[in-house]
Amino acid sequence: MTYDIAVLAGDGIGPEITQAAMEVLKAAAKRFGFSVRPVPALIGGIAIDRTGDPLPEETIRICKSSAAVLLGAVGGPKWDQLPGDARPEKGLLRIRASLKLFANLRPAVVYPALRAASPLKDEILGEGLDLMMVRELTGGIYFGERGREEKNGMTRAFDTESYTVEEIRRILRVAFDIARKRRGRLCSVDKANVLESSRLWRETAIELSAQYPDVELTHMYVDNAAMQLVRDPRQFDTIVTSNLFGDILSDEASQITGSIGMLPSASLGESTLGLYEPIHGSAPDLAGKDIANPIAAILSAAMMLRYSLGQPAAADAVEQAVNRVLEAGVRTADLASKGELVVGTKAMTAHILSALERD
Ligand code: IPM
Ligand code: MG
Repeated sequence: MTYDIAVLAGDGIGPEITQAAMEVLKAAAKRFGFSVRPVPALIGGIAIDRTGDPLPEETIRICKSSAAVLLGAVGGPKWDQLPGDARPEKGLLRIRASLKLFANLRPAVVYPALRAASPLKDEILGEGLDLMMVRELTGGIYFGERGREEKNGMTRAFDTESYTVEEIRRILRVAFDIARKRRGRLCSVDKANVLESSRLWRETAIELSAQYPDVELTHMYVDNAAMQLVRDPRQFDTIVTSNLFGDILSDEASQITGSIGMLPSASLGESTLGLYEPIHGSAPDLAGKDIANPIAAILSAAMMLRYSLGQPAAADAVEQAVNRVLEAGVRTADLASKGELVVGTKAMTAHILSALERD
């Protein structure tokens, strides 16, 4: 069995970390008796430079004919002056929409070996943290009506948060299903004390919960959720929330784990074709220096093995390899505490590859 993997390296550290993830993916495939074939395609700033479009048609075509998409990161100072619709980030939003990837899974796990890297106190982290953030990805304010207008010499700009019942229902279904397979607790995060779209979100969640008697549904306002995440993150099992709130809360959750360089994500739709990317950005200041942490990209590859390629044993093996390397004290700069030995992107990848082959 050979799976075509569309590789959208993008900008900044994107090429380095997707290369690391592909190496690990290939090694895992070899060990578990299948193979993967990378099919490179352009997205983001590099796509603008080469084709004038942050998401060329060709890229969409390649993604649609692949088993899964591995994405690095997009954006950088070079393209910051471009108008909104021409920016690298627009390529990312358009690929999510084109492939109808409405469900974004962002697990935040504190590895015992990385306790010291977390800014939270030991008594708050307790036995460790394992939460799953489910972010709606193709609706809300990211895709709502927007604009800018001049009136009486004043400039006004607006963006709109809008959700249909169908959009809310389908993301909540994904979240209920995930919570059911985890610890059976789902916290729906909204701003229903202020926003009408949030009130519809909450009503829909309550209505749907009748179909999931085995899952305990709770609700929390987003400002409180932001606070609770650092006050007592272990109260959460699965969180489900809108596009914008999920964007913000997932960065916060990532810091709890020690580094944003650790968090993978999976973007899923109705089919098995998913898009896998680290939640971090393109980190232009780190690019080309062999210092970026490749683990978020490598763990994204593990999620790909699990959710798109149907290779859960290979996914487990990759995650265990990462875990063993961290247990052995190997650290990239973002993870290191004082006095710990620091390795670069390539060396970290090599450690993970040998852990994968050894076990
Ligand atoms: C993310 C990123 C993107 C988002 C940006 C780069 C458009 O922050 O994946 O979290 O806001 O969704
Ligand atoms: Mg973000």
